[in-house]
Amino acid sequence: MTLAFSPGRIGSLTLANRIIMPPMQRYEGTAEGFATDYHVNHYARRARGGVGLVILESTAISPEGRLMSDDIGIFSDAHALMLSRVAAAIRAEGVPALVQLSHGGRKSRPHGGGPLLAPSAIAYDDRYGMPRAMTEADIGKLVSDFRLAARRAVNGGFAGVELHAAHGYLLHQFLSPLSNLRDDEYGGDEARRAALPARIIRAVREELGPKPVVTMRISASDNAEGGLTPEMAARALSRLAGHGLDAVHVSSGGLVPPAAQTMSPVESLACAQVLRAALSIPIIAVGGIKSLADVEAILSAGKADFVAIGRPLLIYPDLSRIL
Ligand SMILES: Cc1cc2nc3c(=O)[nH]c(=O)nc-3n(C[C@H](O)[C@H](O)[C@H](O)COP(=O)(O)O)c2cc1C
Repeated sequence: MTLAFSPGRIGSLTLANRIIMPPMQRYEGTAEGFATDYHVNHYARRARGGVGLVILESTAISPEGRLMSDDIGIFSDAHALMLSRVAAAIRAEGVPALVQLSHGGRKSRPHGGGPLLAPSAIAYDDRYGMPRAMTEADIGKLVSDFRLAARRAVNGGFAGVELHAAHGYLLHQFLSPLSNLRDDEYGGDEARRAALPARIIRAVREELGPKPVVTMRISASDNAEGGLTPEMAARALSRLAGHGLDAVHVSSGGLVPPAAQTMSPVESLACAQVLRAALSIPIIAVGGIKSLADVEAILSAGKADFVAIGRPLLIYPDLSRIL
């Protein structure tokens, strides 16, 4: 048997194989952030195609944290009800599913006139505009929004959640020294920049108990002078894992606009290897994986425990057409 098609464990879940569908926004949500029949069909079709785990696209925990005007959210029971239909359709194919919980921070498009929030008042670019540095009250609400979103997801039939701390969104903004200039308990040094993500993992784990899966997606490199490097990301995740993470999904980039990247981009796959050497929980690698030979090479070299295949699955829902 190939390594790709051998079963593997993430927390309490046993996946039938090592191939994961990573979160990919479909831009098909309603203006209010509801999932639709489109999502039911899209995700069920990919589950039927043979992946071991489906991770639903970025799903906002609050209206002010939405990434797009056509993304989806899980900030009310009505939103969760529609998502529970998506979860049921994936489960009917015998595949477990997680939902990726997100808040865009300074890269949000707040719905309904909500505030643009960030660790510090530093804009991503002129288009998003200047965010407001989060107060203790904002942080308390954020933690509560993550907790409630995770509860709704699991009540709705998902096996757990992936916390979005990649691609320059809010939790990534807290982890990176380029976007977090706070000098309180949430910023100032590496340990304090990890304090809010740690608080959120603890809150979600406390809410869900030990069984549901909790993963975190990170950008392990900012590709910019003074930003996160894979080694810094490995140290951050070493602090975070013990608060209740079952796996880390290693992506890269997104904190600063492409034109502001002062270093040549570090490939996500290379980052995964650094994280795997530093952590004892499963690592999911992603980025440009296109063939069975790619998957076998990554798994047999011990660079990761699972691989995610994104864009090819949008074109060919059946894994057999890709691998
Ligand atoms: C259309 C599209 C939407 C995406 N949406 C998300 C998302 O919601 N959350 C996320 O963490 N990554 C998102 N990504 C990144 C993918 O999960 C993945 O990391 C990236 O496509 C690289 O993997 P690939 O080379 O296999 O496609 C998106 C990518 C694409 C192409």
